[in-house]
Amino acid sequence: MAVIEFIDYSMGFQAQDGSVHNLIDRLSMKVEEGRALGIVGESGCGKSMASLSVMRLLPHGAVVQGGQILFEGRDLLQLSEAKIGGIRGNKITMIFQEPMTALNPVLRVGFQIGEALRLHHPDMRRDEVERAVIEALDQVGIPQPRARIHQYPHEFSGGMRQRVMIAMAMINRPALLIADEPTTALDVTIQAQILDIMKQFKQSGGMVVVTHNLGVVAELCEEVVVMYAGCAVERGTVHAIFRHPRHPYTVGLMAAIPTLSSPKTPLKTIAGAVPAIMDFGVGCRFAQRCEHCQSICRTQRPPETWLDEAHVVQCWQACGAAKGDA
Ligand SMILES: Nc1ncnc2c1ncn2[C@@H]1O[C@H](COP(=O)(O)OP(=O)(O)OP(=O)(O)O)[C@@H](O)[C@H]1O
Ligand SMILES: [Mg+2]
Repeated sequence: MAVIEFIDYSMGFQAQDGSVHNLIDRLSMKVEEGRALGIVGESGCGKSMASLSVMRLLPHGAVVQGGQILFEGRDLLQLSEAKIGGIRGNKITMIFQEPMTALNPVLRVGFQIGEALRLHHPDMRRDEVERAVIEALDQVGIPQPRARIHQYPHEFSGGMRQRVMIAMAMINRPALLIADEPTTALDVTIQAQILDIMKQFKQSGGMVVVTHNLGVVAELCEEVVVMYAGCAVERGTVHAIFRHPRHPYTVGLMAAIPTLSSPKTPLKTIAGAVPAIMDFGVGCRFAQRCEHCQSICRTQRPPETWLDEAHVVQCWQACGAAKGDA
């Protein structure tokens, strides 16, 4: 059974006049145990909203419009606040996009990590909590963890704070770890260490990794979902999608990766920007920026087409329906 499965999940935001503008449109994806799924796409595509939906931590004004998010077979969207509270931070944990703001500056690091444990295991003795915290810090490669637990966040470097966040997210041995841009703020050597730690985590659970960085996906993930303006425009195995990208947006993202072999060639960029949610339109949401756009692309949303068992795409061109009628 999948650790987490989105089935036709849709959500949007309430507008001033009470109507709801859809952002995430019928998103389907799943993560198997011991595997990692990468979610990629430009800023504003709905990656964080998809992850926050799992934690049931959507911001004010967000509205769930349909579908299911199954965790161990149960729909998270239907659970009571009490039930989801028992899962959040325990069986499903998250490393947030801004690690600096997620730690409390006036509390000792050891106390903060221990709190995640105490909250879900109120019967644990103090010495047991302390031992577990030291072990967790040790696992993420913090030297002298016994002394470090008494220090405050400002006494840690940026990379170490991110490792503290990971220790906190892993201490309850979650079945699912969601990491939203886990390495973006870090320099490359620290990035590599964090990726190693995350790789080890896959031995015990499933993982969702939200990132702008296709290199991180290649390193860490078996599956990938390419999101554009709330739609999963292409998804499947990393192998299939990196080798044979079919959606023009995925092709564009790939072309925008710098390579060492041709450093002087200017990088290709995708012209334009992600539209605001009120301007998504009825057709393919990428149509305005797509160099292969045909008339059907502007008037009808492309269905999901399975190219093979490892590769799904939402594109009229890729499914063969666009006929050069632009
Ligand atoms: N309160 C709100 N009202 C209307 N739309 C909102 C609101 N909050 C967020 N949005 C919409 O949600 C989108 C942001 O989605 P999300 O934060 O999931 O993007 P992201 O893919 O995580 O981007 P980034 O890569 O920058 O983190 C915005 O483009 C915006 O259209
Ligand atoms: Mg985000």
